[in-house]
Amino acid sequence: MAYNLLKGKRGIITGALDENSIAWKVAEKAHEEGATFVLTNAPIAMRMGEINVLAKKTNSQIIPADATSVEELTNLFTQAQEVLGGKIDFVLHSIGMSVNIRKNIPYTESNYDYFQKGIDVSALSLHKMLSVAKKLDAINEWGSVVALTYMAAQRTYPFYTDMADIKAMLESIARSFGYHYGLEKKVRINTVSQSPTKTTAGSGIKGFGDFYDYADAIAPLGNADAASCADYCITLFSDLTRMVTMQNLFHDGGYSSTGVSMEVMTKLGVEQ
Ligand SMILES: NC(=O)c1ccc[n+]([C@@H]2O[C@H](COP(=O)([O-])OP(=O)(O)OC[C@H]3O[C@@H](n4cnc5c(N)ncnc54)[C@H](O)[C@@H]3O)[C@@H](O)[C@H]2O)c1
Repeated sequence: MAYNLLKGKRGIITGALDENSIAWKVAEKAHEEGATFVLTNAPIAMRMGEINVLAKKTNSQIIPADATSVEELTNLFTQAQEVLGGKIDFVLHSIGMSVNIRKNIPYTESNYDYFQKGIDVSALSLHKMLSVAKKLDAINEWGSVVALTYMAAQRTYPFYTDMADIKAMLESIARSFGYHYGLEKKVRINTVSQSPTKTTAGSGIKGFGDFYDYADAIAPLGNADAASCADYCITLFSDLTRMVTMQNLFHDGGYSSTGVSMEVMTKLGVEQ
């Protein structure tokens, strides 16, 4: 059901790689809710070409940009305003990549070049985007920026390795920049801490399948899927959440507030 929550709003959506991507679902919902937006991803990710399907479906243009390049981000924000015919109202940061995870390197033996690459791609990219947008004055007052994160920023998950530290940095950037951008331009910045989700980035994590089932057994509502995450992001882009900023918001079916569930106790052999 659509409510026209984003009618007249202009956006930039990063990170739609294929139809499993959280960003893909956000783009579909934003389109349903009346927004116009541009899609962007790293040029290398475009080779698969799937993003063209989404662009056609949502009647949007694609502007390639490597999120680690200030130059390419400047071009993205400049061109997006030209294409959309005005300043931007919402931005989705849906970018994550760890070479240490990809190469299955244990946390204590992290390769530091890979670590720095992970920080640049997955955390500093948010700072760069915000800094570029602020310099260009590209975001409207009461505009909303959402970045996706994971609870490993607060609690340790051994297999999440360097991405845990990187997500902690991402959440901190959202708070710090949220202060400055809020004060000067009333731009809101939040992170959404999402359940394990079956996407390319998610499934790249060692033991993801078992962990997905574990989280699902803990959360009273079960794991939140990508489509419901998209719904939540839409509310944060809308005017209904105008006073929400600098928050890390859990979207996880109650997982983060549950110590243990009876389902997990039963799996451990404890009788009810
Ligand atoms: N899948 C999960 O379990 C889960 C859980 C919580 C949070 N998240 C977060 O959600 C976000 C989106 O991930 P997803 O699960 O939809 O996976 P995904 O693999 O579909 O999306 C990750 C995206 O990052 C893009 N990207 C990588 N390097 C880039 C660069 N240099 N410049 C621009 N884009 C680049 C990729 O091309 C891809 O589109 C990530 O921040 C991820 O950490 C995922």
